[in-house]
Amino acid sequence: MSDIAAPQLDFLAPIPPRPVQPWPLWTLLRRGRRNLLEMFSEKLLNQDYSDSKVLSRRVIVCNSPETVQAALLGQHAALQRKSPQMRHALEPLLGDGLFISDGETWAKRRRLIAPVVHVNRMPLFAPVMVEAAEAAATRWAALPDDRPVLMLAEMAKLTAEIICRTVFGRALGDTHAAEIVEGFSDYQRRIGSTDMMSLLGLPDWMPRLLGPGTKRAGDRIHRVLDAIIDSHRKARAAGTAGDEPTILKLLMDAEDPATDSVFTAEGLRNEAAVLFMAGHETTANSLSWTWFLLSQAPRVAARLQAELDAVLGGRSPNLGDMPALPYTRAVFEESMRLYPPVAVLPREATEDTEILGHKVPKGAMVLVIPWLLHRKPSLWDKPDHFIPERFLPENSVGRSKYAYIPFSAGPRVCAGLAFGMTEAVLCLATLAQKFAPEMVPGTKVEPVCRLTLRPDNGLPMLLKRRV
Ligand code: HEM
Repeated sequence: MSDIAAPQLDFLAPIPPRPVQPWPLWTLLRRGRRNLLEMFSEKLLNQDYSDSKVLSRRVIVCNSPETVQAALLGQHAALQRKSPQMRHALEPLLGDGLFISDGETWAKRRRLIAPVVHVNRMPLFAPVMVEAAEAAATRWAALPDDRPVLMLAEMAKLTAEIICRTVFGRALGDTHAAEIVEGFSDYQRRIGSTDMMSLLGLPDWMPRLLGPGTKRAGDRIHRVLDAIIDSHRKARAAGTAGDEPTILKLLMDAEDPATDSVFTAEGLRNEAAVLFMAGHETTANSLSWTWFLLSQAPRVAARLQAELDAVLGGRSPNLGDMPALPYTRAVFEESMRLYPPVAVLPREATEDTEILGHKVPKGAMVLVIPWLLHRKPSLWDKPDHFIPERFLPENSVGRSKYAYIPFSAGPRVCAGLAFGMTEAVLCLATLAQKFAPEMVPGTKVEPVCRLTLRPDNGLPMLLKRRV
């Protein structure tokens, strides 16, 4: 447990009701359908490992740094497959894209994609991130102080602009950003409620009840992405593509070092969809939670602003400033501890295996749950409080890297980790220098998790300017 000199005025971050013992099955399923977070009991929170049966399916939860390490790293070969629930929900959109593939297909995709969004590419993308954040600041400055905005929608617009511009380039990104965002929201709404049939353990081959129009919504996104990729290809062939370094260009040039293979047109489209889906809502959710937490913790907000004033003095941040902004980074990390955007990491065992001596049969569902691990009392001091200081380098010594996993861990760790962290710190630094958003008085905030963990009401906030 990290030992932190407890500051005054810590904010106790809201959580949904947590029963002491597990709910009876039907209550569990009813509650889980609305909000996955309501499925987890106090008992589960404190266990390192649990193994139960939900109807015919074995459900195993790993909830200690040791069991998480064993599942995500040690047993990667047997536990790398995403759950049927996740694969069925996302397949019409992502095909066999990196996020939901496994085995050799996954390994090949990973070798092609990881280098394109690797930390050493950030000098290419950081300027685009700051430009988009500055444009958001200009938009905000034009709004009256007393007009509420939905912070989640604001952050979704910002991160969508960033991913569209970095993947497709500024011009194409700007033209198509709104259309792509709308397409993805439509898709999400349709797959919206959790596919409980998979939790109930029905076999993988049975048709699932995806929401109506899911395939149509996926096709609509494909049409836009295909048109963008096609115009990019034509421009390259005609020598008019310009020299803006986009992710799409890097993907088109990428060659798998192990097999010399390159992307097909469909493969490119699938990976563009993966990058948009994986890289847009996660950052938007966690930035929104950060604004909420800052609005409730004046001591933290003041320390953040003091750091930004001292380092930047009113100018825009750049990539080189990142090492000088440890508190800004710590605020974002603490926000992802309390509200990890991917709150549940579900895997399916593809063969009989073991986790630290516990038998895991083929077909079992293995869950790693950052939402629980990040609030486990034996790992965190004051686990439900917002205390960014715990992530300052001097307070992080000795913490297992498997205790804090907002980006997952092991070979399937988020490929866009450096991208997401850079984006979040630069956006926060740009906007928090100028604004100190406040919650609309009387607003109730509830964390709800379906595919990702988001604030239920979209966080109505007032964009107060800093004086
Ligand atoms: C705060 C921001 C982000 C968070 C918290 C986050 C979190 C995660 C998590 C938890 C996973 C693993 C999911 C699982 O195992 O089920 C993941 C996978 C992935 N993420 Fe991120 N992500 C973020 C931003 C991004 C960005 C900006 C990109 C792209 C530019 C990205 C690209 C990916 C990809 C491609 C995968 C699939 C990796 C694989 O399966 O090998 N992510 N992310």
